Amino acid sequence: MLSSQFLIDQKQCCGNGCMMCPYEPRHIKGNEQLQKRWNQSKKKSYNTHMNKINIPMIGLGTWLIPNDEAELITKDAINLGYKHIDTAEIYRNEEGIGKAIKSLSISRNDIYITTKMWPGMSKQEEPYQNYKGALNACEQSLRLLQVDEIDLYLIHNPFAKENRLELWEAMVELKKQGKVKHIGVSNYNVHHIKEIEKAGIEMPAANQIEIHPWHVIPQPLAEYMDKYEILPIAYSTLAPIPNWREGSRWNGKPEDMKSGAMPCEDIANKYGVTVPQLFLKWAIQLGYPVLPKSVKYDRLKENLSLDHFEISIDDMTSISNIAINEQKCLAWSGDFDPLDVD
Ligand SMILES: NC(=O)c1ccc[n+]([C@@H]2O[C@H](COP(=O)([O-])OP(=O)(O)OC[C@H]3O[C@@H](n4cnc5c(N)ncnc54)[C@H](OP(=O)(O)O)[C@@H]3O)[C@@H](O)[C@H]2O)c1
Repeated sequence: MLSSQFLIDQKQCCGNGCMMCPYEPRHIKGNEQLQKRWNQSKKKSYNTHMNKINIPMIGLGTWLIPNDEAELITKDAINLGYKHIDTAEIYRNEEGIGKAIKSLSISRNDIYITTKMWPGMSKQEEPYQNYKGALNACEQSLRLLQVDEIDLYLIHNPFAKENRLELWEAMVELKKQGKVKHIGVSNYNVHHIKEIEKAGIEMPAANQIEIHPWHVIPQPLAEYMDKYEILPIAYSTLAPIPNWREGSRWNGKPEDMKSGAMPCEDIANKYGVTVPQLFLKWAIQLGYPVLPKSVKYDRLKENLSLDHFEISIDDMTSISNIAINEQKCLAWSGDFDPLDVD
């Protein structure tokens, strides 16, 4: 058998569950945490709610869907069976989504809505959001979405360093007021969440993170979230496919990755599914709710159809091992990873 050191030199995990393996987050065999999640995720159909915050395992992602297209796409998605819509203040499409939900006259209990408060981004010289501003931002989202309560309200990122705690206090207040059912964060690493832990206030129920085989949750964050029962929600799970965010300036992939071959096609063929379906199922089998975005009807349908196959543990490992040498965050710009901010 090859020694672990040899495989480390080759920059890949040997799959034997070695202590201190730098590729540990990609271990499936021998990784108790991932196996536990997988076993839990096996118990139910993938579009049912199966977690503390009752979030459906498949949701419609809506970043880069313009407001004037959001109504039609959301309607199509809901009619196809999507039970969760993921949006954000910064996506500027809450109004279109709200119109779709209103026009379909579905019961409020039949659709789960996640939206996110934008805390500001100093890089772009935007002032940071503050406590009062956060309360107002939520009111604005409720108005645009035409609902009385948001199911899951997140702080979009940890950029507002000096105001992070007061923004979280506003989230707790919004929950107390019944404006939001569950509260969480997005792109937060351990040191960001620890600020909340230290303050001794309610902890986030979820953390939305970029998750795909090239960007898995760092092990310390995965363990910390597990300890506090913070649910990881996966975004940009389709990032390794060559056409991901094609033509958009919001694509952190180096040019050579944009034109590369479709990864894992042989595995997808084995199950008679497409590579996007394979990646979405990979994340779901690890217990992460997913948020595939598409503006195309056939793809909306395809991304929802994940119940009819199960990826074997060996194939799960092979998919995880298409990882490039280092974590590669692609959803933001260039080499920037929001998990790394101070
Ligand atoms: N919290 C955060 O900071 C954060 C950051 C990024 C994303 N998100 C959320 O997560 C959602 C998903 O992430 P994402 O939009 O970055 O990426 P994604 O859903 O992983 O991938 C979307 C891309 O894949 C294409 N696509 C979708 N289904 C396909 C299929 N079946 N076959 C081929 N191509 C397919 C889409 O093109 P077409 O539209 O042309 O079909 C689009 O280019 C977002 O929309 C947003 O709601 C959150």
